[in-house]
Amino acid sequence: MVPAIIILCGVTLIYWMTRMEVHHFEINRHDALITKPVEQPVRILHLSDTHFSGPNHAMARFFDRLGSEEYDLVVYTGDIIDSPEGIPRAVDNLKKLKARYGVFCVLGNHDYYDYHWSDLFMHHLPWQSRQRDSNESEKLIRELRAAGFHVLRNEAVPVTIGKTRCLIHGIDDPTTKHHDIDAVRRHFDPECINILLTHTIDVFFGIGKGEVDLSFSGHSHGGQVRLPLIGPVLTHTRFGRDYCSGLVEMKGAQCMVSRGIGCGRSNYFRLLCPPEAVVLTLKNGDSPQ
Ligand SMILES: [Fe+2]
Repeated sequence: MVPAIIILCGVTLIYWMTRMEVHHFEINRHDALITKPVEQPVRILHLSDTHFSGPNHAMARFFDRLGSEEYDLVVYTGDIIDSPEGIPRAVDNLKKLKARYGVFCVLGNHDYYDYHWSDLFMHHLPWQSRQRDSNESEKLIRELRAAGFHVLRNEAVPVTIGKTRCLIHGIDDPTTKHHDIDAVRRHFDPECINILLTHTIDVFFGIGKGEVDLSFSGHSHGGQVRLPLIGPVLTHTRFGRDYCSGLVEMKGAQCMVSRGIGCGRSNYFRLLCPPEAVVLTLKNGDSPQ
């Protein structure tokens, strides 16, 4: 009797993690207050870690939901695809969104490499030298740009929203060494609101206090598996578990770290860490709005 109950609980847990929670998409809303003048609240949709590959009808329906609102900006912090088959799906779903001032993307490690099951273990071993399969990142960039979306590779784009001057900076993926933080820092302008897009918050090890006002990142998946009373087991950030999800402060910047919308097809499960998109409203913290 007892073994049968244990097996039943195990099967139920696996079914929940792989079939239910991965499709339990949330839209979470936050206000970020900064001291620089913001003429009117700026609504920003933050997407991350979609890991598009094969057909995913649940995620397509989630993008339909996201497309029912209007945003000033859409920012997308990498791991857009998991495999080349995900490129048209990423572009088609992005086209559903209404962004008055544009869609801005940076790439993540999965946009450069097509990871497999064995990589989950092998790439943590210091003596392994096996090359990962490359993904079609140049094709992804080409298709995104052809559809009118910005892909920021260690560069910045100015955007003026009303009278609010923003600079949107994008750091290319640091985990696969495509980043150039110094090149991005040269564009920081204290007269503007500096918004930084990066796949991982760990780039803040190379950024000075007060240089960035608002940042968006992903990569951590919020830990992806959170155990009761323990929390996330793996955080994928050197800043630790307090910085693997949510709106946090780092070196004077408001930093939104997303749990992400998808998960890689090699690790397609979640526990107590449902997928999310974030609608963040940027406001001036000095005056009530
Ligand atoms: Fe990811």
